[in-house]
Amino acid sequence: MLHARGLYKVFGRRPEDAVRRLQEGATVADVRDDGATPAVVDVGFTVRPGEIFVVMGLSGSGKSTLLRMLNGLLPPTAGSVTLDGEELTELDRAGLRRVRQERMSMVFQHFALLPHRSVLQNAAYALEVRGVDRRTRSDRAREALSLVGLADRADASPAQLSGGMQQRVGLARALAADTDLLLMDEAFSALDPLIRRGMQDQLLDLQRDLGKTIVFITHDLNEAMRLGDRVAVMRDGRIVQCDTPEQILTAPADDYVAQFLADVDRSRVVTAGSLAEPVAVLPPSAGPGETGAELARTGADHLVLAEPGGPVHGVLAAADAGSGSAGQAAPPAACVPADAPLADLLGPAAATGHPVVVVDEARRPVGVVPVTALLAALSPAAGEPGAHDGVPAGAPDAELADRRAGDDHDDRHDDDREVAGV
Ligand SMILES: Nc1ncnc2c1ncn2[C@@H]1O[C@H](COP(=O)(O)OP(=O)(O)O)[C@@H](O)[C@H]1O
Ligand SMILES: [Mg+2]
Repeated sequence: MLHARGLYKVFGRRPEDAVRRLQEGATVADVRDDGATPAVVDVGFTVRPGEIFVVMGLSGSGKSTLLRMLNGLLPPTAGSVTLDGEELTELDRAGLRRVRQERMSMVFQHFALLPHRSVLQNAAYALEVRGVDRRTRSDRAREALSLVGLADRADASPAQLSGGMQQRVGLARALAADTDLLLMDEAFSALDPLIRRGMQDQLLDLQRDLGKTIVFITHDLNEAMRLGDRVAVMRDGRIVQCDTPEQILTAPADDYVAQFLADVDRSRVVTAGSLAEPVAVLPPSAGPGETGAELARTGADHLVLAEPGGPVHGVLAAADAGSGSAGQAAPPAACVPADAPLADLLGPAAATGHPVVVVDEARRPVGVVPVTALLAALSPAAGEPGAHDGVPAGAPDAELADRRAGDDHDDRHDDDREVAGV
């Protein structure tokens, strides 16, 4: 388990003084005026085993600095980092190097592959640094390459591979090291959108199979929402919100976070379960009198047909409740599990015009998502504080426009060192 508490990193003049002033209530702008650069300010969180913990923020918000304190490359100005109970800030250089080499693996935006070595040798590199024998490391590297779908390129040189493939070699190198913890800094940010999406899928698949604990850094909110079990949103060195993607989307902590969310594809984050409304359920054998009475009682314009405790038979609209049994009048229902993203409901809702039924594992009805609720939830204004007042107060427009372009300063040299674990 990885744990950060009261973590600060200040660059520039008299960093300790700056931390003390920040702790006493000074703003980041105050201490900047005095020549100090607070990069990480009072950050605390716990990464749970097996989760993907995403740190999301604009370029310059302190993400990479935070990561370098988590891997022990940068000593914090104040605060603590513990990995499985071991306090990193108390380790000496050799101890930190050992932790970096044996307990964590890193993947970066620039693939940091060694150009004169084969794909296999690159994938085996972390093991080589650790002193693992040739035979073992090549076996493990081959395994890792096949996990990322590159088994047949083991003998190629990096230059013969596309960017996406090179990044998969970087991922294989991290997987071959066989550590529980993976630290990924903008690992997919240099890739084309389609390839990037493929890498995200692959990471989610690997995570499901291997159960790694992953700290994933990105400036892209859609990527954060897609990958994160939880997402920590950073601004000016601080974490302003740390929640599940769905919580962030439906209850942004402040206008800053809300402003960010305008660009998010809500249909992939909000789930059917969060919108499900209770619905009346009748057996398909119910007659017109019974359905009419139930519709009148609930005031709803639909009801779901199912035997008690049984799977969904159909959805009956008030307008269709004519003569005969309800089961005869009702078309089959579109059914989805509670964790289905709203994107999965749009097609069925459009095709049937009826509410989509949310079902449990036995396909029993647990509620419905009416078409109007579906559309309302996808509107960008939903859930944003201040959304009804036009532009939210203090909206970080300019800041976003300046920095949304992302993280293009060059971390290449640092990457090489960090991958080598030295
Ligand atoms: N070695 C350094 N010396 C001085 N300032 C730094 C150093 N590294 C980062 N910073 C500053 O710290 C802030 C956070 O940077 P960084 O952690 O790289 O942000 P991000 O990864 O979110 O883009 C920025 O203002 C950056 O200029
Ligand atoms: Mg960075």
